[in-house]
Amino acid sequence: MAEDEVRYAVWGSAGHAKVLCCLIDLRGGRVVALFDNAPDAVSVLDGVPLYHGEQGLRSWRIQQDKVDDVRCLAAIGGARGRDRLAIHERFTVHGLQVADALVHPLAAVCSTSRLGKGTQVLALAIVAAGARLGEACILNHRAAVDHECMLGDGVHLAPGATLCGCVSLGDNVMIGACAVVLPRLSIGANTIVGAGAVVTKSLPADVVAVGNPARIVRRF
Ligand SMILES: CC(C)(COP(=O)(O)OP(=O)(O)OC[C@H]1O[C@@H](n2cnc3c(N)ncnc32)[C@H](O)[C@@H]1OP(=O)(O)O)[C@@H](O)C(=O)NCCC(=O)NCCS
Repeated sequence: MAEDEVRYAVWGSAGHAKVLCCLIDLRGGRVVALFDNAPDAVSVLDGVPLYHGEQGLRSWRIQQDKVDDVRCLAAIGGARGRDRLAIHERFTVHGLQVADALVHPLAAVCSTSRLGKGTQVLALAIVAAGARLGEACILNHRAAVDHECMLGDGVHLAPGATLCGCVSLGDNVMIGACAVVLPRLSIGANTIVGAGAVVTKSLPADVVAVGNPARIVRRF
């Protein structure tokens, strides 16, 4: 093991975990343990053990001599920002550190932007000047966050989603693939914008909106 190699513990062993493990590898890190609540989950990485649920985390933690070089991430995609934040909390309770934001080498992140803990910026994503992203966000492939956007915790921008300048998103918002949010609009917490939508007016919290122009089709 290289002296400065960072070891990672990853919660989630499905599709997004494959993407995240690839990113960790590209950044020179090494995944040493995977965790998942699903009893039928299997490891997405050859040779890396999968532990099930809270009990699994506890037993892995007991086996470790030291964990100060381990960084933790939640590999849970979709509209599940709250679950990612809960996983961060769970790791912290066990004395583990959530990783700083992880950025793909082919993403463009302006130095004047700020990214919260555990946030993941995938290939070809863009974060422009002055943007602020909270904890446990996912900027999926080709997602774009233009200047001075403000994103809460647990936000997910699906592949190709675009936020124009000065957009504000509440916690746990999900913007579907290739959707566009026009400048200076705000979207309330937990709201889901469907794939391909064009959001032309601000949206409240706890709704689903689809289409061009986006219309609310459901309230939670
Ligand atoms: C909007 C969304 C959340 C709705 O999901 P849902 O509640 O399960 O809705 P359903 O699939 O049951 O569809 C309900 C209706 O909305 C329509 N609809 C679903 N998604 C739509 C979309 N993005 N744009 C326009 N109409 C849509 C369906 O055709 C269906 O219409 P119908 O009642 O006339 O048949 C989902 O379709 C979506 O777009 N999710 C984003 C997916 C994504 O980007 N994933 C990326 C993962 S990395």
